Amino acid sequence: MYNIYEAPFLKEMCDITANMYRMGFDERNGGNISYRLKQELVAQYLDLQDIRRTLPLGFDASALAGELFIVTGTGKYFKNVAACPQQNLGIIRISDSGQEAQLLWGYEDGGRPTSELPTHLMNHIVRLRVDPQTRVIMHCHPVNTLAMTFVHELDDRAFTRTLWQMCTECIVVFPEGVGVLPWMVCGNNEIGVATAEKIRDVRVVIWAQHGIFGAGRDIDEAFGLIETVEKAAEVYIKIMNTPIKQSITDEELKKLCEAFHIVPREGYLD
Ligand code: 13P
Ligand code: ZN
Repeated sequence: MYNIYEAPFLKEMCDITANMYRMGFDERNGGNISYRLKQELVAQYLDLQDIRRTLPLGFDASALAGELFIVTGTGKYFKNVAACPQQNLGIIRISDSGQEAQLLWGYEDGGRPTSELPTHLMNHIVRLRVDPQTRVIMHCHPVNTLAMTFVHELDDRAFTRTLWQMCTECIVVFPEGVGVLPWMVCGNNEIGVATAEKIRDVRVVIWAQHGIFGAGRDIDEAFGLIETVEKAAEVYIKIMNTPIKQSITDEELKKLCEAFHIVPREGYLD
């Protein structure tokens, strides 16, 4: 058995949480990540029969039965993950019934998975149906994306169009657009169901006055989506009160799609 502290997925989690903290996306315990792991890889580092604790989920995750995830702990600070992954992260397996998470490693100070686990797992279930290679769901609180939800209408199409207009790369990175939810209480099944409903058609869902979720095949993809949305939101916040002399037109966005062989969300360009 290899040393878990040398596992590539553990290193990836340490690196990304430190990076997101440095970028100001994850103050205090803000943000959470779940990363679906390959069983054959985890088996090189852990005895998969050794269940440390069983944690009730409070909803049916049987679509993920047997799947392994490394997940940030609730109340844990991203800035502390790299120095002490065994307290700030946990590796869980979804039980056969789909009602429990079996803790195989981590949360060593008695901790538990993120309070947003319902949203994470519901998002994994929906995204896996669309793209079986999906592995990562990531949530954080980037400033400009939050700020934009105070001053922009929260309609999916309108919000997407504004983001696309802010940076040339946006429509190339997320041609399907973004989903936006109005303010809701977080950390429960209800916001999980509402987020999963949106994330079926997009890989980015924004929670008004709260933050953002990104889905991807790996950490880079999920984080890259979030970074790109946040950059566009930053441009928007910087220019929103300034007279605009020129911007990217719908005709130009269409030309961009042709040049990059991408299909934008139907009905989102005029
Ligand atoms: P957790 O500490 O439970 O992960 O919650 C942080 C957060 O961002 C809630 O939305
Ligand atoms: Zn949050």
